[in-house]
Amino acid sequence: MVGRDGGADVDDVNRLDSLLDDALRETAAAGDTGAVEAVRLAALGRKGWLTGALRDLAGLPATQRPVAGRRLHAVRERLEAALTEREAQLSALAMAARLLAERIDVTLPAEPVSAGRLHPLTRVRREIEDLFGRMGYSVASGPEIETQSLNFERLNIPADHPARDMQDSFFPALAPAYVLRTHTSPVQVRAMETAAGRLPLRVIAPGRTFRRETDDATHASVFHQVEGLCVDEGLSMADLKGTLALFARGLFGPDTEVRLRPSYFPFTEPSAELDITCVACGGDGCRLCKETGFIEILGAGMVHPRVLATGGYDPERVSGFAFGMGIERVALLRYGIADVRLLQAGDLSFLEAFPTVDREGVETA
Ligand code: PHE
Repeated sequence: MVGRDGGADVDDVNRLDSLLDDALRETAAAGDTGAVEAVRLAALGRKGWLTGALRDLAGLPATQRPVAGRRLHAVRERLEAALTEREAQLSALAMAARLLAERIDVTLPAEPVSAGRLHPLTRVRREIEDLFGRMGYSVASGPEIETQSLNFERLNIPADHPARDMQDSFFPALAPAYVLRTHTSPVQVRAMETAAGRLPLRVIAPGRTFRRETDDATHASVFHQVEGLCVDEGLSMADLKGTLALFARGLFGPDTEVRLRPSYFPFTEPSAELDITCVACGGDGCRLCKETGFIEILGAGMVHPRVLATGGYDPERVSGFAFGMGIERVALLRYGIADVRLLQAGDLSFLEAFPTVDREGVETA
């Protein structure tokens, strides 16, 4: 491009133009920044053709130097602009490709996550709440550490009454007026006090209960009950039996037969136990039902007048029925589980027999 004699000639100019053209074409065609860099190096590197030409400027006669210098600098500027532009294009393309590849659609529905399983006791409790809910019962609760007054006296169980022996109890050493409630029946009185005479009163009260027992396949010292109470004008044993029959058929199937057997509870009069068709043999007689075809599932009766009175209701004007059942016992019968300790051991392989729930707590399988 610059003659040996130090003068620029037409050939040199043409050669410079074609070198620039090639470099611009290669730049435009460069597929990545490495290719752009190769063009830059070929022109402007230490041994590059443009670097060489610029170096040769120094050997030109002073008269030619300004023209040749301007021209070479113009070439350099064009090439550098092209290189910079192509680099910018390529990095924009690379960024676009990366954004596409790393794209996250935050509007996509999340993968379903299993929130575990409902414990069989929870399932049974919810089923019971549901069945009575449809019959107009609301859910009430009371404390697990209850006053002896509500757990016993106000349920017509005086201190010296032999019925206390039916419920061997835990007494907190530092709180002599209290007892770990031996049943959910004290919630009957609490619910009546809360209702303050309103009719009808329909509540169920699920919760934890405690009795001094030696734990075995059918006994647990910590267990759960569901209490039920209905107070209204003109209620009779027929209402009690009809309600419990609906409940039993809802829980154990439409062919379930029920029978009331006379029994005794201090807080109901008359009192009864409810038996249902044996879940194991369907009534034919087996070991579970001791060949009777029936198994007991709960205690019940008409609310004792004294209990109605202590709850603020006039036993001359209103009547009530009540019932109480052990949730563990219902769960054992409902799922054919042989040992209540399985419900309390937290054994995962046992619990895995039950359906999983989604994040809303709805069973999925
Ligand atoms: N509280 C009684 C028990 O624990 C059950 C029961 C409740 C009986 C309500 C009659 C009425 O055994």
